[in-house]
This record gives sequence, structure tokens and C-alpha cells, in this order.
Amino acid sequence: MTNRDTHRVIPLMDLRPSGLAVPAAAFHADTRLAANGLIADLRGRALRDLRISVTDRCNFRCNYCMPKEIFDKDYAYLKHTDLLTFEEITRLAHVFVAHGVEKIRLTGGEPLLRKNLEQLIEQLAALRTPAGKPLDITLTTNGALLARKAQSLKDAGLKRVTVSLDGLDDAVFRSMNDVDFPVANVLAGIEAARAVGLGPIKINMVVKRGTNAQEILPMARHFKGSGMVLRFIEYMDVGATNGWRMNEVMPSAEVIALLQSELPLVPLEPSAPGETAQRWGYANAQGQHDPAAGEIGVISSVTQAFCGSCNRARLSTEGQLYLCLFAEKGYDLRSLVRGSASEADVQSAIAHIWQGRTDNYSEQRSTLPADQGAPVKRVEMSYIGG
Ligand code: GTP
Ligand code: 5AD
Ligand code: SF4
Ligand code: SF4
Repeated sequence: MTNRDTHRVIPLMDLRPSGLAVPAAAFHADTRLAANGLIADLRGRALRDLRISVTDRCNFRCNYCMPKEIFDKDYAYLKHTDLLTFEEITRLAHVFVAHGVEKIRLTGGEPLLRKNLEQLIEQLAALRTPAGKPLDITLTTNGALLARKAQSLKDAGLKRVTVSLDGLDDAVFRSMNDVDFPVANVLAGIEAARAVGLGPIKINMVVKRGTNAQEILPMARHFKGSGMVLRFIEYMDVGATNGWRMNEVMPSAEVIALLQSELPLVPLEPSAPGETAQRWGYANAQGQHDPAAGEIGVISSVTQAFCGSCNRARLSTEGQLYLCLFAEKGYDLRSLVRGSASEADVQSAIAHIWQGRTDNYSEQRSTLPADQGAPVKRVEMSYIGG
């Protein structure tokens, strides 16, 4: 056994790097940019999807995201005054929508831990696209508080939820969340979300070889025909603390082959441009998609990068704009919304930042030495959200 197997490398640095400054050209009269509902980055990718992290805290300690050794009682979470307020978030979201954002996903950490989240949802639900359409407002949750909150979230204007669930076996689930949380409570949360109409519900399962691959078939059997879409996610080298190794990644091609051995599948067309998941439908006896049986998805950011159509921006809990899940730094938008910047200043800032974007980390990963993943300065997923 090598050192690497027994010791996780803990980087000696602040896991939340200081922000990048907004390009000065954003504020010069002759280079100022206004929103017109469509901006493209340097690879021609539009800005459509905004992910807003509302807390860096979580009540789970999934080893692939917030390992206990690092996120312990001494971990320095953000102070309340560092967080964007709901008014600040809404002001920024309003500008993103003017630039073409159509979908907003609330994430964390665990977003349901943020106090009065329903108030934020109400404010966001009142926004309209330049064409006058309401936004697709969704939320990614571990489901622990969902049974209690489903109705108030729905009433506030949330459209749908995505629930993370890494297995049905109680012992496997308790050990993966690492806080001994029972799977039955998450299943009750999913049922509550379904009952109040927070659908279509998606279920995200991160697959780690050697940890929960044996749960793939039971999960598929459980959700087949339920109207919910189960998605299998390749374990990623996101963040700098999860001790990622390639041999724990189960490629989606293998997941599909395993499913096909019992539950025949047929490939489906993408339902939206820039979609993270590849869709597969359950087949009937004639080998055609059976809509009543439903579909699954695979998200293959390790073995089949989807950066070419990445239309996602991420706003961290303290108001830094990240252009990639694997970015080392974000742009400080909080100082703009907290300072004297006008709406036009914020519009121009976001336009300049997005127009300069080239990020494509998952495409580059394959050129890195095997097993290494990215350099260890990346931001944590609990801080910018999935
Ligand atoms: P839907 O609109 O509900 O389909 O959402 P989505 O496809 O954007 O998916 P979701 O937010 O549920 O993301 C699922 C998982 O895919 C995340 O938890 C991440 O693991 C991964 N993921 C999402 N966006 C990105 C991305 O931009 N890059 C990479 N590499 N992975 C991503
Ligand atoms: N690899 C893949 N997905 C991850 N998530 C968090 N960490 C990782 C990782 N290392 C995603 C999962 C989870 C969501 C909150 O974030 O999809 O459901
Ligand atoms: Fe919490 Fe989700 Fe991260 Fe697990 S994956 S620690 S539930 S934020
Ligand atoms: Fe987008 Fe970065 Fe993910 Fe590529 S790695 S899909 S650029 S967030």
C-alpha cells in the first residue's frame, strides 16, 4: 500500500480563493455592454442556466463532496454577513435573465438549510425572460428536509426538484452520507415532492466503483415506471478534498451495459441544448421506447466531456461568479451589488465576463496524467453547488 492509499492530501490553503476583478472595460463608456437577451462566450456558447448556491453548509458529509476529515467542526464556513442576501441574489438574477438565462437552479451545500428560502423562491418566481416567460426554477437537494418543506416550496413558486440519492440499501446510504441518515426519510421526501407536484422529479446517483455500483440495478428497478428520471453520474474530480482516483470512476458505458443486461434500453434524443445527461428510454418487447416505463440518464463528464455546449454559470454563496465547475477563481459580483454599481454596470460586468469565457476543464482532463485529476486549487462543489 502506498502513502496515497492511506493518506488524503490536504492542501494548505484557503479552499475559497479570493475573487477576480471584473474587467475594467466593463465600466468605460465606449466599451460598455447592455443586455439584449443573448450573449455568447469565446466558443460561441450562450448563457442559459444559472446555478445559485445559497449556503456552503450541509447536513450530510458525502465523502465525494464534503469529506468529514476536512468539513469538521473547525471548518470555517462563511459568516452570515458574507452571504448574498435574497435581495442581492434577486438583483443579480434579474440581470442574468436579461442576458438570456432561462433556468435557475438553487444549490448549496444543502439549499434547504438556508433560512426562509421560500422568500427567495417567491422573488425569483416573479422574474420574466425578455420574451415575458416565467423561469424554470428548480433546486438540487439531498432530500433530508424535503418531506417537511415540499408544500411550502411549491407554494412559493418552485417548479421541480432534483434529489440526490446514491443507493436504496440503508447501510450503503448511511455510510455514503456519513452522518448515518436513513434512506427511508429521503424516500419520504421524494414522495412528498411528488404528491405536491414538484415534478418532473430527477434523481441523481453518483456512482463510485467499489462503493455503490451494486445499487445501480436496484435503483433502476425502483424508479422504472415511476415518472421520475434517474440519472447516473460519473464520480468527478471536482474540488480538492475528495481524494479522487480514476479507478473509482465507473464509466457510463459500463453502467448502460449493466442495465441493458436486465432492462433493455434505447437511446433518446436530447430534450434541450447543452443538456448534461444523455437520455435512454426503457424499451418495450418490440424494442421501442415505452413512455410508461420512462427513461434514465447518464452524466459522463469524465469519459465524455460536454463542455462544447456548456451554457452554465455559477454564483457562489458569497457572490462570486464561476464560469466552470472546475474553476480556481470566481469574479466578485458581491462588491458590485453591495456597492454603488447601477443595474447598467452589473449588466456590462456580466457581459464582459461571459464574453471572455473559454472554460472547458472536462475536455482538458484527458490530457492530464492518469489518476491525477486537476491541480488542487479548484473550488469545492459545496461552495458553488452542483
Ligand atoms: P436538469 O435541467 O434538471 O436536467 O439539470 P441538469 O442536467 O443541469 O443537471 P443537474 O443540475 O442535476 O446536474 C447533475 C450533475 O451533473 C451535477 O450534480 C454534476 O455532478 C454534473 N454537472 C452538472 N453541470 C455540470 C457541468 O457544467 N460540468 C460538469 N462537469 N458536470 C456538471
Ligand atoms: N462527482 C460527481 N457529482 C458530484 N456531486 C457532488 N460531488 C460530486 C462528485 N465528486 C453532485 C451530485 C450530488 C450533487 C449535490 O452534487 O450530483 O447529487
Ligand atoms: Fe451535501 Fe450534496 Fe455534498 Fe452530499 S453531495 S455533502 S448532500 S452538498
Ligand atoms: Fe462546463 Fe466546466 Fe463542466 Fe465543461 S467542465 S461542462 S466548461 S462546467
